Amino acid sequence: MKLCMIGTGYVGLVSGVCFADLGNDVVCVDKDSSKIKSLKNGIVPIFEPGLSELVIKNYRNKRLTFSTNLKESIENSDIIFICVGTPTKKNGTSADLSQIYNVAQTIGSSINKFKIIITKSTVPVTTGDDIEKILLKKNSRKSFSVVSNPEFLREGEAIRDFIFPDRIVIGSNDKKTNRIMKNLYSPLISKGAQYIHTSRRAAELIKYSSNAFLATKITFINEIANLCEKTDINIEDISIGMGLDKRIGSRFLRAGPAYGGSCFPKDTKAIISTGKRFKTNLTLINSVIKSNENRSNLLLNRVNEILNKKIKNKKITFLGVTFKANTDDMRDSSCLKMIPKLTKMGAIIRYYDPTGYKKEFSKIKNVLYIDSIKKSVEGADLVIIHTEWNDFKSINFKNLSKGKKFIIYDMRNIYSPSKIKAQGFKYFSIGR
Ligand code: UGA
Repeated sequence: MKLCMIGTGYVGLVSGVCFADLGNDVVCVDKDSSKIKSLKNGIVPIFEPGLSELVIKNYRNKRLTFSTNLKESIENSDIIFICVGTPTKKNGTSADLSQIYNVAQTIGSSINKFKIIITKSTVPVTTGDDIEKILLKKNSRKSFSVVSNPEFLREGEAIRDFIFPDRIVIGSNDKKTNRIMKNLYSPLISKGAQYIHTSRRAAELIKYSSNAFLATKITFINEIANLCEKTDINIEDISIGMGLDKRIGSRFLRAGPAYGGSCFPKDTKAIISTGKRFKTNLTLINSVIKSNENRSNLLLNRVNEILNKKIKNKKITFLGVTFKANTDDMRDSSCLKMIPKLTKMGAIIRYYDPTGYKKEFSKIKNVLYIDSIKKSVEGADLVIIHTEWNDFKSINFKNLSKGKKFIIYDMRNIYSPSKIKAQGFKYFSIGR
C-alpha cells in the first residue's frame, strides 16, 4: 500500500520506517527541508536505538522516500497518517491543534481519489470530527474516511513497541475502512497483536486515558515511596507485592523522580482540558498532575537533608539528565527543575549523560558537562543517579572515588543499599 506520513518527528518517522520495513511504499514528508535533506543522507535527527539502520535499509531498497512536497505526496498515496505535534498551548493547558488543522486544509485540497486519513498524533476527543468537517468543506463529494489510530510507542523502545504492540486501536465509523486498516496491520496481527476496532472518538480517548492512567500508576507508587521512607519499608517489596496481583500488574510501578517526557505531562493536562470542555471534573488526574509537579521539590528537600542543609559550594554530579534512559530527550525531564534550583542554592553542578552535552543548561551558571562518568564524579560531594541507563548499572564506585567518599543518591534504585554501604559509601535511594 502507498502510505504518506506527515511529520517526521518521533511518531511519523518511527511508524513510517516500520511500515516500509513491512513492505509498504512510504513517503515521509516534512516542511523542514534540512531535516529531509539529512534523512536522505541517512542522518536521523532523533536518538532511537535501531532507527538509523532501518532508515538506511529501507531508503536503499526504495520502499522509503522523503519529501517536502506535501500536496504531491498526498496525491500519490492511499493512506495518509497525520503525525504532526500537538504540544500544550502557550498560556494554557489544552492541546495546540494548529498544525493538525493546517495539514487537514492541504489534504482537503489534494484528494484526487478515495483516501484514508488517519490521526496518529495524540488528539483530543472530537478532533477527527473537526478534520472531517474541514475536508468536507474542501471536498464536498465525500471520497475519504477519517480514522483515529493512536500510537503507544515508548521512546527508546519505539521500534520494538511498533513491531510487537500490546494492541492496535482503530477508531473508525466505517466498515470498509476498518477492513483496509486490518489488512495494513495484518503482519503484526499474525504475530499476536490484538486488533481493536472502536468508534473514532473512543480511539482518541483510549490514548489519553492510557497515558493518564500510566501517569497515575507512577504517581501512586511515588507517593507510597514517600510513606515507605518514613516507615522504614522497602518500596521494592511493595511494588513486587502489588504487581503480582494480575489486576494491578507490575509494570510502571517503579518509584523514581517525577515522570517526564513529551507525553505524560502534556497529555494529562490536555485531558483535563477536554474534561472541562465537556463539563466533567477529572479530579483524580488533576491530583496526579499536582503531585508530580511537586515531586521535584520534594526530592530537592531530600537532597538538602542529605547534605545537612549545606548546599552552598557543594559539588553535585548528575549521572543522566534526560527524562529516562535510551533517549536524548530532555522534554519535561525533572532535571530541568532540579538543577537550576540547586545552582540557586549555591551548588556547583557537573553532569554526564550518554547522549552528551545539553543546550538546556547552557545559560545556567555553575553547570558543566563532563564527558565521562569517571571525570564527572571526581571530587564530588554528592552523586545523583537520575536516569537508569545501563551505563550506570555496574559502576565501581570504590575505584572511582579515589579515597574521597562521595554520597550517592540513587533516584532509580539501581543499586543494593547494603552492598554500596558495605563499601563505605553513604547511600540514599527512593522509598527504602
Ligand atoms: C509514553 C507511553 O509509555 C507510550 O505508551 C506512549 O505512546 C507515549 O508516552 C506517547 O504518548 O507518545 P514515553 O513518554 O516514551 O512513552 O515514556 P515512558 O517510558 O512511558 O516513561 C514516561 C516517564 O515515566 C519517564 O519519566 C519514566 O522515567 C517514568 N516512569 C516510567 C517511572 O518513573 N516509573 C515507571 O515505572 C515507569
